[in-house]
Amino acid sequence: MIFKLPIFLTIIVALLSGCKDKPVKKIETKPKIEIVSESYPEHSYSNTEQIHTTHLQLDLDVDFEKKTIYGVARHEMENFRTKEAIFDIKGLKIQKVTLGKETEVETNYVVGELDSILGQPLNVTIDTNSTQVNIYYQTTDESIALDWLDPEMTGGKKLPFLYSQGEAILTRSWIPIQDVPSNRITYSADVKVPAEMLALMSAENPIEKNEEGKYHFEMKQPIPSYLIAIAVGDLVYEKLGENCGVYSEPNLIDKCVSEFEELPLMIKSAEKLFGKYQWEQYDIVVLPYSFPFGGMENPRLTFANPTLIAGDRSLVSVIAHELAHSWSGNLVTNRTWNDFWLNEGFTVYIENRIMEDIYGKEVADMLALIEFQELEKELVTIAAGPHPFDSHLKLFLDGRNPDDGMTTVAYVKGAMFLKTLEAKVGRANFDAFLKRYFKEYGFKTLTTEDFENFLREHLLNPMRIKFNLKEWLYEDGLPENCVKIESKQFEDIQALANKLAEGEDIFKVKWKKDKIERENYTTQEWLAFIRTLPDTLPAGTMALIDKNLNFKSCGNSEIMAEWFVLGIKDNYKAVFPPMRKFLIKVGRRKFLEPIFEELVKTPDNKVWAKDLYKTARNNYHFVTRNTVEEILK
Ligand code: BES
Ligand code: ZN
Repeated sequence: MIFKLPIFLTIIVALLSGCKDKPVKKIETKPKIEIVSESYPEHSYSNTEQIHTTHLQLDLDVDFEKKTIYGVARHEMENFRTKEAIFDIKGLKIQKVTLGKETEVETNYVVGELDSILGQPLNVTIDTNSTQVNIYYQTTDESIALDWLDPEMTGGKKLPFLYSQGEAILTRSWIPIQDVPSNRITYSADVKVPAEMLALMSAENPIEKNEEGKYHFEMKQPIPSYLIAIAVGDLVYEKLGENCGVYSEPNLIDKCVSEFEELPLMIKSAEKLFGKYQWEQYDIVVLPYSFPFGGMENPRLTFANPTLIAGDRSLVSVIAHELAHSWSGNLVTNRTWNDFWLNEGFTVYIENRIMEDIYGKEVADMLALIEFQELEKELVTIAAGPHPFDSHLKLFLDGRNPDDGMTTVAYVKGAMFLKTLEAKVGRANFDAFLKRYFKEYGFKTLTTEDFENFLREHLLNPMRIKFNLKEWLYEDGLPENCVKIESKQFEDIQALANKLAEGEDIFKVKWKKDKIERENYTTQEWLAFIRTLPDTLPAGTMALIDKNLNFKSCGNSEIMAEWFVLGIKDNYKAVFPPMRKFLIKVGRRKFLEPIFEELVKTPDNKVWAKDLYKTARNNYHFVTRNTVEEILK
């Protein structure tokens, strides 16, 4: 561990001044020093034990020309008689800090050293009875949560676009804030954008543009900082049901409406299983392709990547996932990023229950099996890597980027743990327990240890059930008693893949279903099919598959991404042109990571990848750039 002496970069002496100002536009730059992370288990500098925000009021002016947000963050705080309030910032320029609500008085503040992971502490001098701190600031090129897209990178190609991605610790790069999941706050915002654009937030949202480009937002339920989000663009809205709908750029809206038509069913199903939806409205905004995730569960407004629009509703489980976060993650939140599985493991479990409820057990099992294959693969990588403890559900990410812990362990091992528990106690008992859990911990946060105690007290002990809980939560790998998922459909399609691998032309013979066409099987079956094929196939086999099934340009992003990886392994040249197009257009990290990882394995492909990256880089959000650059290094 490296201890650091505080070398303060900036000391601003208090000047007495009054009245509320608007965001100010010119701020001088200050030098930066990079140092190594020290121990901050919560990945935050904030002193929430002494003083914490209860309500945040934002004044934001979004300037597309300068690619800058000029802001004031007004923190209403509960102060336990401390003389200093510490906030997290990263890549922000602070202009001034004031205290007070009606009358503002400037106060001293100090910006600490830059840590490459955590950013910088902003230490503000306050009185023991101060409850209002106002921070005047602007974002910079290093505000890594923000993705400013030029018009060419949008669907409409006429207007620019902006969106933010806060999870896990990026909110501090566009709002000065106590950036910890353990502190819940309500927020309101006044946002000014160019007149032809619509602004949306993870809050109560407008459904159409207004001439002034001024929008007001309220989030009345307390949420953790990573769920504050904004999107600004040429956006339109269509209702999908009583309390739900979808926003997208005009060119995509009809497709979005038909793809997500079943959203009301999903909400109904989730409510039936896990209790009332607590956020009133559930909308989706489909962002441009650079969005680094399939979906992000910003409350009241899931952010989604257009790669979900497959045209046949085959990728809607991602929406079930983000909707599920309305219970696990948004309502009940991980206390620290070491407890991330409480967000994602529960969500994958609930997602699967929703899918089972609507589409049946066979579909749900195929989805689960695909994920399980990914877990098995990642467990091998983790065991051989520098951090074998990353296979624990309870993580230890001290001194590391929390992003490092966001693996399939949290998602799939977490979900398998819950499935195994369900099998042990019976579904009815488990469902009753989950309902109780969401009620008890609603709008709260908890640690893995809290969950362990709650589980013992309310499920295992009353039922006198013995369970290897410690092993599941705090030990390596996958416990023996993990439930097995089986799928007859997978066995069939795997048999088909094996025939092909042996050189048989499967397209000439009749198989169980009439004809081997892409439409006759689900996306998950095709993924299982591709995964069963060996790395090198008999000559001409990949071309034969493409001739019949057109994987390489089928428009289904999941299938294409998986096919590209196999194409690289097999040195199947025909895959490179469509892959190039895909890599330049799509910024979703989950797809890009395995493709780039495969490309760097041979010198020629690595050169190709590096060259392509020069063009593609601009279309990726920081989160994806960071991952890809790590691979290309
Ligand atoms: N909350 C995550 C995305 C995330 C995780 C952002 C960690 C930043 C840090 C989101 O709910 C998610 O898991 N998205 C997945 C969906 C999938 C598992 C169904 C994605 O984007 O692929
Ligand atoms: Zn998730």
